[in-house]
Amino acid sequence: MKDRLLFSPFTIKDVTLKNRIVMSPMCMYSAANKKGFLEDFHFTHYISRAVGQVGLIILEATAVTPEGRISELDLGIWEDDHIIKLAELVQQIKSYGAKTGIQLAHAGRKSNVSGDIFAPSSIPFDQNSRTPKELTKEQIKETVEKFQLGAKRAKDAGFDIIEIHAAHGYLINEFLSPLSNKRNDEYGGSLENRYRFLKEVIQAVRKVWEGPLFVRVSASDYVEGGSTINDYVQIAKWLKEDGVDLIDVSSGGLVPANIDVYPGYQVPFSEKIRQEANIKTGAVGLITSPLQAEEILKNNRADLIFVARELLRNPYWPYHAANELNAKIESPTQYERGWRI
Ligand SMILES: Cc1cc2nc3c(=O)[nH]c(=O)nc-3n(C[C@H](O)[C@H](O)[C@H](O)COP(=O)(O)O)c2cc1C
Repeated sequence: MKDRLLFSPFTIKDVTLKNRIVMSPMCMYSAANKKGFLEDFHFTHYISRAVGQVGLIILEATAVTPEGRISELDLGIWEDDHIIKLAELVQQIKSYGAKTGIQLAHAGRKSNVSGDIFAPSSIPFDQNSRTPKELTKEQIKETVEKFQLGAKRAKDAGFDIIEIHAAHGYLINEFLSPLSNKRNDEYGGSLENRYRFLKEVIQAVRKVWEGPLFVRVSASDYVEGGSTINDYVQIAKWLKEDGVDLIDVSSGGLVPANIDVYPGYQVPFSEKIRQEANIKTGAVGLITSPLQAEEILKNNRADLIFVARELLRNPYWPYHAANELNAKIESPTQYERGWRI
């Protein structure tokens, strides 16, 4: 057996992942109840990837307020009643040896739910989108509290890790970018001011959550005048100071942009943030081959590998990866016979 980093454990705070493969958060738009509750589908979907030996399963963007959903079919964590089913799912995923995470989210101006939508400034995503209302300072405070309540509920449900969604043009990302944040108060203007909302979210979450805390960022807006990777190196330094354990490095989604997408296209952002901000990172984006994942880890370009669409195509991708890398992988006892001739 070779020394394969992809299949080496990873400890963050008091949580140890059995390998470096993370199921990247993916909205399934399948809460048919339209009230944010898990359906049977979600159990099958997430537990399949746990049986498939993914090390960490991060649940899709889960809204901290009803108006913070992307669609009416999103999962939610805005009321205590959501906890029971989430706790059941967490317990079942864990029974297969995977750790559990949840992505706490607010869609901001990218919400498609009927009624008012909110953003740092009253600027629509594009000409076909609704115009959001500018959040008042009181509403900002309330939204920060909603993230805190979401984190408290995630803790009560038994999740191992919380990830804050600050990427892809949703509410927190809208505060961070100068293209969507034109506020004149302490939440707009300088990078430090644009970071204030996220800082307050982190501080509020940290009051109720001692465990590993991840933040997903969009490390580039890909347009003139937007946020750049250099801004995100600075933001990552602040996030580290404020108690964040790992940055999950994605990109884009704030404004319509032409993005040159190719295997590993976001990895250089992860590498730069990891080296210059000296913080742990996750790499994501068209990482589909086991050797590619191993290269990223071995060359210190990330600590974790987030896999999204490949795990939709193949929930057992970790077995395939172990086979290709000649690494040892456990399977549930019921399935061990499948590995013997
Ligand atoms: C169906 C689908 C839903 C997604 N939903 C989310 C989400 O809820 N939160 C998020 O941060 N990213 C979301 N993403 C982005 C993925 O997590 C990932 O960053 C992206 O697909 C690139 O990785 P990949 O090339 O491995 O698919 C979604 C992607 C897909 C395909």
